[in-house]
Order: sequence, then structure tokens, then C-alpha cells
Amino acid sequence: MKNKVKRWTSVALASSAAAALVVGCGQTSNTGSGANGSASTSPSSTTMVNVAGVRIAKPTHLVNYKNASGTIVWAESFTTGPTASELVSAFEKKFPKIKVKLQVQPSNTDTNRADLTASISGGSPTPDVYMGDVIWPAQFAHNQLAAPLSDYLPTSFWTRFSNGLVAGATYDGKVYAAPLFADTAFLYYRKDLLAKYHLPVPKTWQQLQQEASYIVKHGGAKYGFVWQGADYEGLTCDFDEYLADAGGSVLTNGKATLDTPAAKQALSFMRGLITSGVTPQSVDTFQEPQSENVFTQGNAVFLRNWSYAWSDSQNPQSSKVVGKVGVAPLPTFAGHGSSGYSTVGGWDLYLNPHTKNLAAALQFIDWMTSPQAQEILAANSEMPTIKAVADSPSLAKYSPVFALLPKVKFVSRPSQTPNYPAVSKAIYDNVNAALAGSVSVAQALKDANQQIQQALSGSGSGGL
Ligand code: GLC
Repeated sequence: MKNKVKRWTSVALASSAAAALVVGCGQTSNTGSGANGSASTSPSSTTMVNVAGVRIAKPTHLVNYKNASGTIVWAESFTTGPTASELVSAFEKKFPKIKVKLQVQPSNTDTNRADLTASISGGSPTPDVYMGDVIWPAQFAHNQLAAPLSDYLPTSFWTRFSNGLVAGATYDGKVYAAPLFADTAFLYYRKDLLAKYHLPVPKTWQQLQQEASYIVKHGGAKYGFVWQGADYEGLTCDFDEYLADAGGSVLTNGKATLDTPAAKQALSFMRGLITSGVTPQSVDTFQEPQSENVFTQGNAVFLRNWSYAWSDSQNPQSSKVVGKVGVAPLPTFAGHGSSGYSTVGGWDLYLNPHTKNLAAALQFIDWMTSPQAQEILAANSEMPTIKAVADSPSLAKYSPVFALLPKVKFVSRPSQTPNYPAVSKAIYDNVNAALAGSVSVAQALKDANQQIQQALSGSGSGGL
């Protein structure tokens, strides 16, 4: 802990440009010295406050960014659609003294992370602001890849967000990311095909499998059900949902619990989707874009994907199934309630500790979490993170997914540990091997369990 603080204090926000913009906030005696202050930045010796349901250290270096100017680079990783450029145009119109250059990142969260990790740990001052996954705060904070936003922004900033989101971006008493949008997984289905074959929207996984198989057999579609089975973080998300539906969880009291009947039910079902022909074998190479593409090209009855897939499915430029799609909460296993779990997904805005334009970066983060920007996200079927938009009755007009939220059950990934990348790798590597048929379900779970345990003890391999 002490080491972490010391190492943090040596990083680059102390650039004179940044320090000059820092204004006193009264809690500490090192006002004006940038992030290069003394150990007073340590949460243990700083006044803590309760904000947005979480205990955080009061800001040490409030920044006045109201007259910010200059150019910043924003690394964005929207999987599809015009969202990033729409946001930047609206921002530049409102703040003409700031220019935002877009840096497009890979849509695969793991390769995106590896890329950002390499450039930021190498000291690059750009991107100034980057979109990062909701599972990154612990790892990025621990490795000084993100600056503690709560040191620079007033505590009142955090009260705009919906419950729980700030807590998810907090590590060791500081908030390292501003929640940008939340991702929830849904079941997308072809309502024209269900109507044609007189079948209801499935509420259980078993029912989905039967219906998909029936429609494929009768020539309604090439494939029954597509999802994310490639060897990457997205597979951890999919697996965690079946696992939660079966009553299991990755960790129980801090210990790996994948060597269990619930995990066997989950993984056997996933593998069974492939062996029964409902899901193509190539799903073991599918990430979000590939699975979505099969569906929007009209080749599958059902798709598991995140909130934004609604708007993609309704885009006449890329979708052949406009007007033919319905959306519902994911199913669950028979006997486990009326709907299934969604993994908690989403993306935040992080600040590069080496930025040379702290004020413009903070202005951008502030605006991106304002009602204007959050409405642009909502119009693209991305779930807003601020209460003013998320709780507004007008939200429903943007996308049918928003009305479904109250029915969804949520499962979080165990990402509070900086070793999460290795924990997740232990899951997706082994689950993927079982999907490919190269190891048995039982063996895959045994291996995953053991590797998760190793990862938690800090001796796991990889993940970056
Ligand atoms: C989505 C989610 C993110 C998750 C990723 C996995 O982008 O928002 O949280 O890690 O999918 O592919």
C-alpha cells in the first residue's frame, strides 16, 4: 500500500502545465504541487468522505478546468456505430477551444487493454483520456496506468452517477474512472421466425435450445443461437451468466468454486449447444462483432449480445433484419426463476497519468457524463450512467432494452483484484478448450479452478 502511493506520486501529472491549473481545496497543505505531493495523497492519512455509496478520499488537487483549451486525444473502442464521432462533434461545438482527436482502439477488450498498457506504462502522454472496461479499475490503479480522478474532481462530481457505479470504479479509496455507459446482455430474437413457427419467446435455456433446433430443422435459419465463444474476456462474460443461472459462482468466500455441479451444468449446456447443432462449432472463434454479424445478416434465430446490438440490428446500412428483431432478458435454466442473469458490463473514462493537458481532459470527462452526452449514448442504445438520464421516463423512447432492465438479474465478475486478468484467462482458456472439444467439461473446470486459485495468489500466468 505504501509502495503504491510512493510510486504513484512519481508519475507525470506533476508536469508544470498541470500543476499550474491546480487550485487549493483546503484539505491538505500541499495544494498546488500537482500529484507530486507528499504522502498526504494516501487515503489512510486523508479525510475520507461517503459519496455515491462509497468511501473515498477527498480531492487533494482540485483543478479549475472551466477555461481549458488545446488538443487532447481520446482513445475510443465503441464496437460499432458512429457514437464516438457524434460525441466529439457535440463536445467541440460546445467547447470550441478544445479539439479532440480520436484514436480508435481494438474492439476486443483484451487487445485494447494490452495496447493501452504498453503505451501508458511506456510513459506516452496520449491518449489523454481513454475508454476502458469496467473490470479494469483495480488493475489499472494498482499499476499506475490510470490517474485517480477523485483527486482532481470535486466530490459533488460523483453524485451524478447511478447507484453502485462509482463503487465499481473505486480502488483503495480513490475513484479511477468515470462511468461512461453500462452494458447489459440480452436475448435478441427473430420475431418473424417465432411467429411463423408459432413459438413463444423462450424463458429457459432448454426451451431456447428446442426452439432453435426446430426452426433450423424446418429451414427457417442457418443457425439457431450465436454468442461469444472465442478465447477472450467475452467468453468469461457468457460463461458467468450460465453459471449464475445454474446457481454457481466463480468465487465463494474468496476461493475458486468451478469444480461444482453448477459449473458442470453451465459448461455442459454450452458445449451441448454446439454438439446438438444449435450453435455452429465456429462459435469458439466468435467475439461480439462476429456473432452479431451472423444475426444481422439473417442467419441466426437467437443472439446473445449487449445493449448496443439493438441499434446495430436496426441499422439498414448493416442489417438485413431491420423490423424483424425482438429483445428479451436472457433465459435461465428451468426451475431458476423467470429470467436469467446478465454479466455487469460497461465502459468508463480513464485519465492517462502522463497527460499534458489535464484541464481539457477533465472538461471532456465532465461533459461526457453530462445529460447532453448521455442522451447521445442512449440514442445509440448504450445505457446511460447518470441518474438524470438513466431514471428519466423519456429514456424508453430510445431503445426497447431500457424497459427490460428491471427484469434482469445481474452477476459481477470478480474484478476487484489487480490479478483479475489472470483469473479471467483461467476461465476463458479452459472454457474455450471445452467448447472446442479438446478437453472434457470436467477436466476444463478442474483446470480452471486450479488456475484461478493460482491467479488469486498472484502466481497465475498471463492475462495481459
Ligand atoms: C462488453 C462489456 C465489457 C466486457 C466485454 C467483453 O464490451 O461492456 O464489460 O468486458 O464486452 O467482451
